Amino acid sequence: MQGEIGFAFRPDSGGRGLATEGVHATLGYGFATMRMHRIFAGVDTRNERSWKLMQRIGMRREAHFVHANREGDAWIDEYIYAMLDFEWLPRA
Ligand SMILES: CC(C)(COP(=O)(O)OP(=O)(O)OC[C@H]1O[C@@H](n2cnc3c(N)ncnc32)[C@H](O)[C@@H]1OP(=O)(O)O)[C@@H](O)C(=O)NCCC(=O)NCCS
Repeated sequence: MQGEIGFAFRPDSGGRGLATEGVHATLGYGFATMRMHRIFAGVDTRNERSWKLMQRIGMRREAHFVHANREGDAWIDEYIYAMLDFEWLPRA
C-alpha cells in the first residue's frame, strides 16, 4: 500500500505546468484507483525544479538525508517528499 514515484519530462515541454499536471494525475491514480496509503519520492536536494513541483501539488518534505548518495567523488544530499491518502482524498 505504498508507492514510490519518479518522473522525467522532455526539457522542451518544461515551464508550462505539464509535469505538475502529470504527477498530480499519477498521485490521483495511486490513491483513488490503486488504493495506496502513502506515495513518496526521493530527490537530489539540488534539483529545485523537482522538489518545487512536489511542493506545488501538496507533498510534504519528510526527510533530509545528508550524504545519502554518491555521485563521482561527491556526496549528495537527498530529500524525501510524501503524501498520505487522507491528505489527498479530501482534495479529490
Ligand atoms: C522535474 C521536472 C519534471 C520539472 O519540470 P518543470 O518544467 O519545472 O515542471 P512543470 O512542467 O510542471 O512546469 C512548472 C513551471 O511552470 C509554471 N507554470 C505555468 N503554468 C502552470 C500551471 N498551469 N500549473 C503549474 N505550473 C505552471 C510553474 O510556475 C513552474 O515555473 P517556475 O518553476 O518558474 O515557478 C523537469 O525538470 C525534469 O524532467 N527534470 C529531469 C528529470 C528529473 O530531475 N526528475 C525528477 C527526479 S526526482
